[in-house]
Amino acid sequence: MLAQNPAAQFAIPFLNGGPKQLLIDGEFVPALSGRTFDSINPATGQVFAQVADGGVEDVDRAVAAARRAFTGPWSRFKPFERQALLLRLADLVERHFDEIALLDTLDMGGPITATRARKQRAIGLLRYYAGQATAIHGDTISNSQAGHILSYTLKEPIGVVAAINPWNGPFGMAVWKIAPALATGCTVVLKPAEQAPLSPLRLGELCLEAGVPPGVVNIVQGPGRTVGAALAAHPDVDKVAFTGSTATGQAIIRASAGNVKRVALELGGKSPNIVFDDANLDAAVPGAAMAVFANSGQVCSAGTRLFVQRGIYAEFVERLAVFAKQLRVGDPLDPDTQLGPLVSQGQLERVTSYLESGKSQGARPISGGGRMVGKGRDNGYFVEPTVFTNVNDDMKIAREEIFGPVICALPFDTLEEAVARGNATSFGLGGGVWTQNIGNAHRVAQGLRTGSVWVNCYQLMDPAVPFGGYKTSGIGRESGREHIEEFLETKAVWIKVG
Ligand code: NAI
Ligand code: MG
Repeated sequence: MLAQNPAAQFAIPFLNGGPKQLLIDGEFVPALSGRTFDSINPATGQVFAQVADGGVEDVDRAVAAARRAFTGPWSRFKPFERQALLLRLADLVERHFDEIALLDTLDMGGPITATRARKQRAIGLLRYYAGQATAIHGDTISNSQAGHILSYTLKEPIGVVAAINPWNGPFGMAVWKIAPALATGCTVVLKPAEQAPLSPLRLGELCLEAGVPPGVVNIVQGPGRTVGAALAAHPDVDKVAFTGSTATGQAIIRASAGNVKRVALELGGKSPNIVFDDANLDAAVPGAAMAVFANSGQVCSAGTRLFVQRGIYAEFVERLAVFAKQLRVGDPLDPDTQLGPLVSQGQLERVTSYLESGKSQGARPISGGGRMVGKGRDNGYFVEPTVFTNVNDDMKIAREEIFGPVICALPFDTLEEAVARGNATSFGLGGGVWTQNIGNAHRVAQGLRTGSVWVNCYQLMDPAVPFGGYKTSGIGRESGREHIEEFLETKAVWIKVG
């Protein structure tokens, strides 16, 4: 049951008119089962929308629609037409972004100032990939065959792409998967996270409004274990692009083996952030704090293992605790709020169990350390911004991805030690270094086995700059030329001339 009339309360016309449907073949349709599930606002624990609950049979019709579209008129769209489509979509997203930000705030709890601030990234991605649509090309290649033999390559779209997304950036991640598909001429079946499906569905509407042909973008929301698993195993899906946990990524690799799908994975992390004693602490303290606390810690590349050089360790962690305690945690609709709730009851339980594990293993929270209640937070999934000291590298909280606002602060002595301990993890997504010594900055940047390294900053991203993981943090890169390549097959053509 709806706890209140969401359209009246939030003035979002999108939420009027009953459950949000699946998008299949250019139409919004109910799930074949007729089932729906609730969308919950994590700040209040209340249901604020209902969503069609897709199943395996819906996956089948969405994949069939995507296949028909791939071989139909869409295959004759010229690069400049796909470009124009993406630019129209960017304009629509720009025009409707206040509503999109509000949907994300209600669905996953991101503070409204933060969800609104994602506008530039979303439209930047769409315009970047629009540009890429007309920049796709193969090569002519000199060969050493006898006679006059021409060889060249063609770049062709991979085909039907299944995109399976998490909830920590619902709209931006949906754009990040759909835009390269449209740029290259692929078709998509998107499965958004069940915790935050609404803004991806709004993107689906805007795709139709922009003129994306039926079947090119399909959206099937529903559970990972059915809808997600069916997409990963589907014999007529050519590629699966997944963002989420490493465990689910491993399940997707196994499921994809049947037809040898192309697999792109953006997975978890336990990223090292290394602060040297010569760092500008006025920048490093808030930088290291927000490298974890932003989005309440629900960021794959969060700098959760904070290595601080021993000479400044005591001062640094004290300043960090002061910073953590003054963060305004609460109602994500309040423009003064800096941190919202975690996405779900399940995440709340997961993160608080890590906090208990840390304390029971002897780590000491110098700020936070538990669930946060009071001041309107009692029914929401709020956690205190937490800084643990007395941590050692072997504790569970120092090894596993927590996905909450939890920093493990670890002292170190030498650069070599920091790099070695930073790399002593199965993950390899991000890494940070704070120093005024340019030589040390480069040595750490080259020493870390991670897909991104940020020096005197953290978490910067750009549509043109590749992002992804080493080791169990993933396969492939999103953004940049690398991303486009991953939506393309390369065909070699040989011609005997004369
Ligand atoms: P998850 O990785 O299970 O979910 C991500 C997406 O995969 C969702 O759309 C889900 O429905 C789908 N999925 C689940 N099982 C599937 C399967 N067998 N086959 C295909 N798709 C499947 O992550 P979840 O359960 O939401 O969060 C648990 C933990 O995962 C978090 O605490 C965090 O540590 C990590 N995580 C990491 C993310 C990242 O960006 N690196 C994002 C989300 C979660
Ligand atoms: Mg929700």
